[in-house]
Order: sequence, then C-alpha cells, then structure tokens
Amino acid sequence: MAIYLVLIGLPGAGKGTQAVILSKERGLTHVSSGDLFRDNIKRQTELGKQVEAILKSGALVPDDVTIAMVRDRLMQPDCQKGAVLDGFPRTPAQAEALNKMLGELGGRVNLVPYVKVRDDVLVERLSGRWTCQTCQTVYHEKFNPPKVAGVCDKDGGELTQRPDDKAETVKTRIAEYMKNTAPLIEHYRTQGLLVEINGEQEIEKVTAELLAAVAKVS
Ligand code: AP5
Ligand code: MG
Repeated sequence: MAIYLVLIGLPGAGKGTQAVILSKERGLTHVSSGDLFRDNIKRQTELGKQVEAILKSGALVPDDVTIAMVRDRLMQPDCQKGAVLDGFPRTPAQAEALNKMLGELGGRVNLVPYVKVRDDVLVERLSGRWTCQTCQTVYHEKFNPPKVAGVCDKDGGELTQRPDDKAETVKTRIAEYMKNTAPLIEHYRTQGLLVEINGEQEIEKVTAELLAAVAKVS
C-alpha cells in the first residue's frame, strides 16, 4: 500500500537530507516544494519568474500557487507508490489541500515526522550548506562534506550556496515558520499522526530513528 509521509521542521532541520535517504530506503518518491520552486527559477519558467524574489526574501509563496504546483507533481504516476513530502504543507490551507489530493489518489497522510532541532544550530547548518546545481544533493562543509570541495560526489556538478541562506534571510524564514507552519505541529499531533524525531544527532542516527518510526505504520 502507498504511504505518504510529511516531514516537518525548521529551515535547516535536515528535512531534505533525510527525505532523500528515506525515499530511497522505502522506495518512495521525494517531493520537495523548495526544490520544485528552485528548479523553475533555474529554468526561468513563468512560475520561476513569479516566485524568484519571494524565495530570495525568505517569505512564503502564496498558497494557491504552491498548492497548484505540488498537486501537479503528486498526480504524476511515480507518486502513486507513495511519497515523502518535504516542505509541504506549510500552512493550514495547504494541509487541507493535501488531504484532498491524497484522497483522490486513494491515500492519506500516514505519518508526520517532526525533525526537531534548537534554533541555535540552524544558522551554522545553513551557512555551511552547499547544494549541487544539477541534482540538488545537499552537503555541509563540516558535517557532510563532498569528497572534493565544490564538486558533487554523485554527478560532478558544481556546488553553490543558496541565496536564501544569508543570516538575515534565515531569520525571516524562521519567523515565517513560527507564524504559519508551527501550528501544523499541534494539528497533526491531535490527529495522532505526529512523531518527534531528535534532529540534533548525527545524520545516520536521525535516519535510524525515522526508519523505525515509519516501520511502525507500514
Ligand atoms: P525549502 O527549500 O523547503 O527550505 P526550508 O524549509 O527553509 O528548509 P531547508 O531546505 O533550508 O532545510 P532542510 O530542513 O531541508 O535542511 P537540509 O537537509 O538541507 O523552502 C525554501 C523556500 O521556498 C521558502 O522559504 C519559501 O519561499 C518557498 N517554499 C517552499 N515550500 C513552500 C510552501 N509549502 N509554501 C510556501 N512557500 C514555500 O540540511 C541543512 C544543512 O544541515 C545541510 O548542509 C546538511 O548537510 C546539514 N545537516 C542535515 N542534517 C544534519 C545533522 N543531523 N547534523 C549535522 N548537519 C546536518
Ligand atoms: Mg530542504
């Protein structure tokens, strides 16, 4: 049966890092709203041009635009086997829209792992993050370095830093999270779907905790 997981956590908590590993381990499709926006910006599509300044500022893209983009992605055949959602939903309206979409697919949200970290580790994580320009693999210069500095281990692509990882913009992203996304934690807890994961451990240990939690629901 298809399972749908929703990873929640502050910017830099490790959602993307874990979503890649988890989707591979469990044969699910990784759906990252942030990666979808960045891909559109890179290709300068209409959507990309529309959202570029918003991402750069650290604010959230309006719900209607975000929901339409994620809906398109979830309706593709590779999401019928289940998906790891990373960065979506981020508002109550998006959570409601997600329930509808998954209902259409004959599924539902099975588990919401909340990757928990203290605010003070985030800036260090984000300021040391390097991302592959071609496959979006994420590295950290100290915690998860590539074999050769500036070059992706997987495809040799160039590693760059995200324009929204400047300390000032990170502050805006954290404020947006507190205002819009944090309420979803209680929403999913009330539904019995939330599981807290200690995101301050080494990457492998976080993965082990996540896999154990997912095994209980599938
Ligand atoms: P998005 O791309 O989703 O960014 P985010 O939520 O701010 O999260 P990040 O990608 O920064 O962090 P992460 O948790 O994935 O951490 P990572 O694994 O990379 O969104 C970007 C923007 O797009 C938003 O600001 C908004 O404008 C827009 N947007 C996206 N979705 C939207 C939505 N639904 N609605 C409206 N707007 C939306 O890890 C970070 C670093 O730490 C890496 O270097 C990594 O190597 C390292 N690391 C990871 N785990 C560990 C560990 N355990 N120990 C040490 N280091 C670690
Ligand atoms: Mg991410």
